[in-house]
Amino acid sequence: MAMDWAAADLAERDLYKLLVNTVLPRPIALVTTVNAEGRANAAPFSFFNVFSHAPPLVVLGIEGRVGGAPLKDTMRNIRATGCFVVNLVDRALVEAMQVCTIDFPDDVDEIAAAGLATAPGVSIAAPRLAASPVQLECRETVSLSLGTRNRNLVVGEIVHIHIRDGIVDERLHVDIDKLDLVGRLHGADWYVTLRDRFHAPRLTFDGWRRQAQPDSEGEVS
Ligand SMILES: Cc1cc2nc3c(=O)[nH]c(=O)nc-3n(C[C@H](O)[C@H](O)[C@H](O)COP(=O)(O)O)c2cc1C
Repeated sequence: MAMDWAAADLAERDLYKLLVNTVLPRPIALVTTVNAEGRANAAPFSFFNVFSHAPPLVVLGIEGRVGGAPLKDTMRNIRATGCFVVNLVDRALVEAMQVCTIDFPDDVDEIAAAGLATAPGVSIAAPRLAASPVQLECRETVSLSLGTRNRNLVVGEIVHIHIRDGIVDERLHVDIDKLDLVGRLHGADWYVTLRDRFHAPRLTFDGWRRQAQPDSEGEVS
């Protein structure tokens, strides 16, 4: 037995509950942007992923605001400047990320409140977070306004990649233990590290045939 629903029959809140508690874990982008006056902003997004490597694209799902300004500062800044930085979040960055989630009054610098230092973008105007192990400088390719509540799907092209020293070697092998990234889990406040994992080698057709028919020298009847 399975429970099933037509998506159109579910209230928005229930769709949210079912989707964010089943599509797990989700990577987290702590996105830094800058407004037209040069003021920096940081906010986490877990409706986020890398979409392709050629071209190197990321996607962000940014909700509209309920009441007040229709767009979150991140989206407003991307509209104004056409760029953003995806700062990946390691275990050590979680507490600062949570400060960045607070809806501060306009006159509070949330990056400073979170105790985070920035570094200038090499190719874009948005700053990076120095403490993040991986910083992806992105230029907005296209943003699609979807739905009725100012939701935006932002597609960005990665134009510059920064990885902290000691994580990647000269052959570009990445040490994922040193990365120590976290992902978003269920509910409002659960997260996961990368410490529980298993290896599942990819099968070739011949390998699969041998596994399925171990005594028949690879011939499947
Ligand atoms: C781990 C985490 C993931 C989040 N993911 C999203 C997301 O994918 N989309 C979104 O609109 N808001 C998301 N939020 C909420 C935003 O970070 C929050 O609304 C933030 O205050 C927006 O800031 P801004 O106005 O400076 O852009 C997330 C919050 C947390 C803690």
